[in-house]
Amino acid sequence: MTKIAIKKQAKLLLCAIGMLTLFNCKESSVTDKKAYTEEELYRPNFHFTPKKGWMNDPNGMFYYNGYYHLYYQHYPDSIVWGPMHWGHAISTDMVTWTEKPIAIYPDEKGYIFSGSAVVDLQNTSGFGSLKNPPIVAMFTYHDPLKEKTNAPGIQSQGIAYSLNEGLTWTKYENNPVIEFPSIKDFRDPKMIWDNIHKQWLMVLAAGDKTMFYGSKNLKNWEFLSDFGKNIGAHGGVWECPDFFPLFVEGSDEYKWVLLLSINPGGPNGGSATQYFVGDFDGKTFKLDASFSKDMNGQKGLWIDYGRDNYAGVTWSNISETDGRKLFMGWMSNWNYGQKVPTQKWRSSMTMARELKLIKEDNHYSVSSQPVRELQNYVAKTIKKETLKIKDKKTVLIDKSLVDLTKLDIHFTLKNLKKDVYTFSFSNGSNNTISFGINKKENYFFIDRRKSGDLSFSDAFAKQISKAPFTKDFDKIDIRVIVDKTSIEVFYNNGKTVMTEIFFPEKPMETFAVSKENFDFTIENLTINQLNF
Ligand code: FRU
Repeated sequence: MTKIAIKKQAKLLLCAIGMLTLFNCKESSVTDKKAYTEEELYRPNFHFTPKKGWMNDPNGMFYYNGYYHLYYQHYPDSIVWGPMHWGHAISTDMVTWTEKPIAIYPDEKGYIFSGSAVVDLQNTSGFGSLKNPPIVAMFTYHDPLKEKTNAPGIQSQGIAYSLNEGLTWTKYENNPVIEFPSIKDFRDPKMIWDNIHKQWLMVLAAGDKTMFYGSKNLKNWEFLSDFGKNIGAHGGVWECPDFFPLFVEGSDEYKWVLLLSINPGGPNGGSATQYFVGDFDGKTFKLDASFSKDMNGQKGLWIDYGRDNYAGVTWSNISETDGRKLFMGWMSNWNYGQKVPTQKWRSSMTMARELKLIKEDNHYSVSSQPVRELQNYVAKTIKKETLKIKDKKTVLIDKSLVDLTKLDIHFTLKNLKKDVYTFSFSNGSNNTISFGINKKENYFFIDRRKSGDLSFSDAFAKQISKAPFTKDFDKIDIRVIVDKTSIEVFYNNGKTVMTEIFFPEKPMETFAVSKENFDFTIENLTINQLNF
């Protein structure tokens, strides 16, 4: 018997012999929660979290010599946001991460805000050599003193280089390299090597627009153009852009994709990341005409419609033979990120994802799917080929067969009608996190209104989160990744994605499906328990 079970039995015995005044005999959720440490209940199995302290945006991601590097906005001394450092972690497969020493510290010029890193293979910067190419990072200096007095030039861009594969960094002596004193929100530079126009290219967020810069040596930057005023969603300040060419799946046509995070103003409240598709001539970005229409006025199209995927950007220096566009976001939201109920660390990153550009009926869209490396972690698979769902509620699996805190599930739904299809993970403390399809009102959803601890913020679970359909269907593929306190749902091969976090009082114990009226079919249900 486990320690927890022994404690429970002892409690029941005391209750039975009537020691009611000393012991609370109700099976309370508080007792359940105390049975688990924070690490056991909340620390994700395979989504990156810092050992301690605060984390927000992913920064400076690059691949080199067999390692994926991830830097992140980090304040090691507290679990709320503060003077920003770049924390650092490495991985050989973007699934298992090893935290390294802090990479970049704040200094007299300011905090180290978000930014990017590139591998300068030709040593164009002169910081290294052809034999040992420098890794060059660009970040935003945020000057807290200027911020206090509202002086101009609060944010500027600085660079740093590393000659030991990103472990330690030297800041450039002539920082900052880009200033624009009159723009207050002037940050989050994302650099790429633009192989089409043979230039270093950088995009940053400047209030309600993005600005593009070009360079030959990563030190001197020339302004090229700006984009975005009055285009797309503008419910809040623009942040953390990313800009890159991507081949349309299955063709040799390519388009440029601009990712743009916005806070607030996301489709379900708070922070979220929209995207744009268009053409770039080396200087100016122009929206594709069909994409402009698809944006549906200024509402925007979103990489993820859930509330917990923000500030996501892509890895640089992925080899041409690999060829993937690899993305990761911060799995939280500025609406409540600093209040979630963990005490030792705060927040985690999303699963690493592959972005693809899809063209269907002359419409462009960006899909995301979990990186294939996750498949190497499958410990146990349970398959059910065809399930005719006739009852209002059907349990698909429970904890006697799999551990529901680490799952990768796939299935196809067929014969869908105008009904509501709800998949839910639940436990004996009446906590439920559900997702599904409302075909009466044409949206996908995640509902965390009864998912456990909601007390820390009113904004966390006020309403369900919705993602609109792009077109009607009666059949759909769904993939779901669950990691203790997060659910990432990929509808239709990742053409619509919803990511949300939750804080149950004890681990989830059953996975069930319910519908209202019509029978339907689940095909090829594959439940993979992951090995961590
Ligand atoms: C986005 C952001 C960035 C900024 C960083 C500061 O979440 O606000 O714009 O660089 O966080 O930590």
